[in-house]
Amino acid sequence: MGEALRFLEEIEHSLEFGFDIQEDLLHGQAWDEYGTFCRDETVIAAKSSDAVLVGAVGGEKWDEILPEGKPEEKDGLMRLRRELGVFAGLRPAWYSESLHSVTSLKADYIKGLDIMVLRELCGGTFFSVPRGVSTIDNGQQIGVDTTVYKTYEIVRHAKVGFELARQRRKELVSVDKANVMESGVLWRKVVNDVSKEYPDIELRHLYADNCAYQLTRNPKQFDVILTDNLFGDLLSDLAGALTGSLGMLPSASLTSLKNDSAVNAPGIYEPVHGTAPDIAGQGIVNPLGMLLSVGMMFEYGFGYPDPAVKLRSSVDKALSKGVRTRDIGGNASTREMTDAVIDAWKE
Ligand code: IPM
Ligand code: MG
Repeated sequence: MGEALRFLEEIEHSLEFGFDIQEDLLHGQAWDEYGTFCRDETVIAAKSSDAVLVGAVGGEKWDEILPEGKPEEKDGLMRLRRELGVFAGLRPAWYSESLHSVTSLKADYIKGLDIMVLRELCGGTFFSVPRGVSTIDNGQQIGVDTTVYKTYEIVRHAKVGFELARQRRKELVSVDKANVMESGVLWRKVVNDVSKEYPDIELRHLYADNCAYQLTRNPKQFDVILTDNLFGDLLSDLAGALTGSLGMLPSASLTSLKNDSAVNAPGIYEPVHGTAPDIAGQGIVNPLGMLLSVGMMFEYGFGYPDPAVKLRSSVDKALSKGVRTRDIGGNASTREMTDAVIDAWKE
């Protein structure tokens, strides 16, 4: 996050707009400071902003803390997503010429790859009740999760998927486990219903396990992948592995694709990767997922796609000069990687 703010400061004068930035704590640090993973004040400030930029939060130190209450009270990020209602998680992954040496797939398989995983973020397995760990007979315990999707949740998410597909290759793959999950049966039916409004989009359905298999076998068949919270969590990490490092991937969590702050809640922009406690504080993490999230904020949060495109090409330029952090096969520090992007931006 520090690098993202430094980047913004460095480039602000070259943009058509300025920022008014307010900082706050989320999850672990919020817990240490305030005894809650996400304060009400934070939610209020987030709701009255145009965009919320979030760094990777959490770590083992806080994993055992399970406050009473709803699932979202146990996790700062989940609360923020839920409070802002940002159900549409856009998680892009694309091939970069300068990175194919660090992926585990042959260049031919991934050259030109450009995938958008559209993950539902406010419902499904991570939020549904009943849930919890309880003791039954013989001292045995049960851990329960439930997956619930209501029609309207699938409809609104699917619509974003079709709209996205319309801006891209006009192909949508919807992913579920309708063979074994009732929520999947409904998912598939509702997506089929919504598809009638989008006759120009070619819709395919895949089971989640097959989708994972196909993603590694033949990733270029995919453009937009529409899926739920749980499968989207898995498939977006997998998509990241295809293109290089998870450290590279940005995300935007939105309530709509339309850029209209009068009707939309602000989006959340954050890297897809979580924290890496083993290397925290050493100044060696990859800042690109974070920086590219700033790019998505320009595009989807502020309605300025040009700086987002420029940022993407600045990242490519920096990489092609051989500047890389360790996760992508180099020795650059976090700061050096950011500096290379800033230099490329200014070129
Ligand atoms: C992600 C993360 C989060 C999620 C965790 C940290 C709660 O893995 O954004 O993919 O599962 O949503
Ligand atoms: Mg995840």
